[in-house]
Amino acid sequence: MSALSFDAYSGLPDAECQERIRAARARLGKAAVLLCHHYQRADIYQHADLTGDSLKLARLAAQTDAPHIVFCGVHFMAEVADILSRPQQTTLLPDLAAGCSMADMANLAKVERCWRELSEIMAVEAEFTPVTYINSAADLKAFCGRHGGIVCTSSNAGAIAEWAFAQRPKLLFFPDQHLGRWTGHKLGIPLEAMQMWDPDLPLGGLTPEAITQAKILLWKGHCAVHQMFQKSQIDAFRARASDALVIAHPECNFAVCAAADYVGSTELIVKTIKAAPANTRWLVGTELNLVERLAKEVAPEGKTVQFMSNLICMCSTMQRIDPQHLAWTLENLAAGEAVNPIVVPEHEAEPARAALERMLRVS
Ligand code: 13P
Ligand code: SF4
Repeated sequence: MSALSFDAYSGLPDAECQERIRAARARLGKAAVLLCHHYQRADIYQHADLTGDSLKLARLAAQTDAPHIVFCGVHFMAEVADILSRPQQTTLLPDLAAGCSMADMANLAKVERCWRELSEIMAVEAEFTPVTYINSAADLKAFCGRHGGIVCTSSNAGAIAEWAFAQRPKLLFFPDQHLGRWTGHKLGIPLEAMQMWDPDLPLGGLTPEAITQAKILLWKGHCAVHQMFQKSQIDAFRARASDALVIAHPECNFAVCAAADYVGSTELIVKTIKAAPANTRWLVGTELNLVERLAKEVAPEGKTVQFMSNLICMCSTMQRIDPQHLAWTLENLAAGEAVNPIVVPEHEAEPARAALERMLRVS
């Protein structure tokens, strides 16, 4: 049988999709597990078997016995699930356009050019450990695997950076400058010892002296969602409510992280606010779907949860996984057709797995 085309689903009303999702899941039973990132929209999140941040979802993908992993998240997360799951399992991403704009800010050609340019001024393999944020394509994880490097997530970046410094004296950190800078700062590295590498300029826009003196080179990449949060929003909130608590994701800029009471992954944000005393008041710097869901969940305990920005900051690519795509994916799967499989070729998967497994051992 051939796969049902998405065309027949694109105009379906949401309510009908929800019914069909439930029916297809009932037919699939334990054959499919739905892993869902915290940023997924409410009409998808309600179907999750398991939820988490990037690290937790990577571990869950490595542990599940389900033959099919339906990944409600973005492309790099589904790639990680494919790399860490067993060869006979399949990983499906309901919409292949669900990417991550930050992950796209680094690519293999640019990272290899950076490595080559660094090798012209020093023994790069002896001086630098490459560290890629999990928000990156599989070939960059493979690059790290081949060059003695490692992957990190927002929840383990500190431990990973310590590991990386134990290997070699300097880090090349990509693609998120903000997570890299905050992580370095938490390890006591002065801001002047962290230099930004602009991949569009020769030698990253740096002098050989600046590179020699740096402890960390930070790739010039960022998250478009988290760059909307500003310290002035925290100041205005604290001026209105002096007892307020502020929690931010480390993809926020340095000033926001420095002004926050807590900085951590999406899982840490959810756990911290759920565990907080009743009647506490929170300002949260991360994606809107998570913040709105959390606000509703903790409202009965008298906790107030407010979004940091006045603007709507949603991850538009996470948002692409909608009821129409999920219904299409699950009905095909129930009919024996795996649509949108994510398959990382083994020549990339093997070194990428080495870098990911290093991460899982260290964190
Ligand atoms: P977490 O690992 O904290 O869920 O972060 C992933 C992400 O993309 C945040 O923007
Ligand atoms: Fe990527 Fe930012 Fe979306 Fe996270 S919120 S998946 S970093 S674009």
